[in-house]
Amino acid sequence: MSRLRFLGHNAWEVQTEKGTFLIDPFLTGNPVAVTNAESMSPEWIFVSHGHGDHLGDTLSIACRTNATVVTMVELGEWLKKRGVANVVGMNLGGEWGGAFGNVRMVPALHSSSTPDGEYAGSPCGWLFTLLCGTRIYFACDTALSAEMALLGREPLDVAVLPIGGHYTMGPEEALQAVKMLQPKVVIPCHYNTWPVIAQDDEKWASAVERETTTRVYRLAPGESFSLDGLAKM
Ligand code: NI
Ligand code: MN
Repeated sequence: MSRLRFLGHNAWEVQTEKGTFLIDPFLTGNPVAVTNAESMSPEWIFVSHGHGDHLGDTLSIACRTNATVVTMVELGEWLKKRGVANVVGMNLGGEWGGAFGNVRMVPALHSSSTPDGEYAGSPCGWLFTLLCGTRIYFACDTALSAEMALLGREPLDVAVLPIGGHYTMGPEEALQAVKMLQPKVVIPCHYNTWPVIAQDDEKWASAVERETTTRVYRLAPGESFSLDGLAKM
């Protein structure tokens, strides 16, 4: 039994039979978050890049729980210097395995620096193959990219895509991304957190379901999705 819980913006919790991991745990200061950093107890934290709305509470959660932080090498070194004991620094194209299954660090077209302005390496997305067999792609902050056509050549169960625009791809480009990725399910995120990334997700969902065979699930912060049954819980 694996499940995906939306924590708001691009923050996610994935519970598997073999442990729990977080993606971009931005909770403190997140206007749409319905939970807090203190209630998180992950085994692993995957951080896509150094921007505050993604790095979020990584430092405090990792220092409290001893979770392993998996991220780009440069951002990993920055976290080590600040007291994170267990860091896996990797780079684009690399794969890493844990009890949850396997993950590949994939390209994202964006920028990245640490909160104090240090170089944080390239931003990234993640392609997970969970132990239950489910394959899930977190695009994280990115523009539409031709790389997505390559990812679409492999079977994909779930794609988690930003649709907010301004800092990432918007609804039009995200629709193109769905066509390239061809996932069974797409879940939009990184919109309606602030007015600058406000979008009409109902309209977007209609367009995706009209033009592709992909099903759209929109999760409110706090809602969960079954990664075995591919349905809302
Ligand atoms: Ni960003
Ligand atoms: Mn962002």
